[in-house]
Amino acid sequence: MENYLKLNNDVKIPSIGFGTWQIPDGEIATNSIRIAINNGYKHIDTAAIYNNEKGVGTGIQKCGIERKELFVTSKLWNSERGYESTLKAFKKSLKDLQLQYLDLYLIHWPATANQFNDWRQINSDTWKAMEKLYNEGKVRAIGVSNFLEHHLEPLMENAKIKPSVNQIEFHPGFKQNDCVKFCNDNNILVEGWSPLGRGKVLENKMLKETAITYNKSVAQLCIRWALQNNVLPLPKSITPNRIKENFEVFDFEISESDMALINQIDNFGGSGLNPDSIDF
Ligand code: A2P
Repeated sequence: MENYLKLNNDVKIPSIGFGTWQIPDGEIATNSIRIAINNGYKHIDTAAIYNNEKGVGTGIQKCGIERKELFVTSKLWNSERGYESTLKAFKKSLKDLQLQYLDLYLIHWPATANQFNDWRQINSDTWKAMEKLYNEGKVRAIGVSNFLEHHLEPLMENAKIKPSVNQIEFHPGFKQNDCVKFCNDNNILVEGWSPLGRGKVLENKMLKETAITYNKSVAQLCIRWALQNNVLPLPKSITPNRIKENFEVFDFEISESDMALINQIDNFGGSGLNPDSIDF
């Protein structure tokens, strides 16, 4: 298992990212980033809507690792879709993060038919701005988040640059097989948000029994399981020993038969957030 994967534009991406959703801004964000980086994480995932870009940025400044060794992702919030607003929102994220460039910028959620008649056009206009940022070297890769096949297809029809990433909810209780297959077939890397199901999958009996056989925690099993499914996990924690634990997954391998068993677990512990029905 490699510590890095390659995006479809040949950019190297560290194969585990530190998720920061629900990490409060300020000292907690700054300290969590510092602890994560000290424990080996090189990849930080944030978003404008997480409201912690300033604290995350300060953590990056203070971590003692050169910027070029790190991989930093942020996301465009839904209220900022469209060409001009995307360019403006990107500028603000960069400023809050105190960075000169981003490694990856994602459209956080697709505009969809339940909210917009012209959802295809909105996504297309937003994507044009993403392409401009990429062409100007302000971001090393561009992608989307929470897009299903029927959102990706029209976007790609009009795109000059193909998305490098689709970040979706992914854990043993919510696998989104069709979307993952579509992305794999199109050489779009899938990143998994909430790889621990926001903590909800950790009490599953079968996962607990399996984790014990590897002398690992259920969290470590879930993170390794994502990696072996070619999905890049983004575990979040503000607890130092958990931050460390979640990165200690490169010293064991889940057997094919256990992978198959976990891949067959019925859905449970999903967030219930569906891009076609969200109201934000
Ligand atoms: P905390 O941040 O208080 O440590 P996800 O990444 O799926 O969204 O899950 C994040 C949730 O899981 C948070 O509530 C986090 O708590 C908790 N968590 C993260 N890592 C672990 C771990 N190794 N063991 C138990 N709970 C964890």
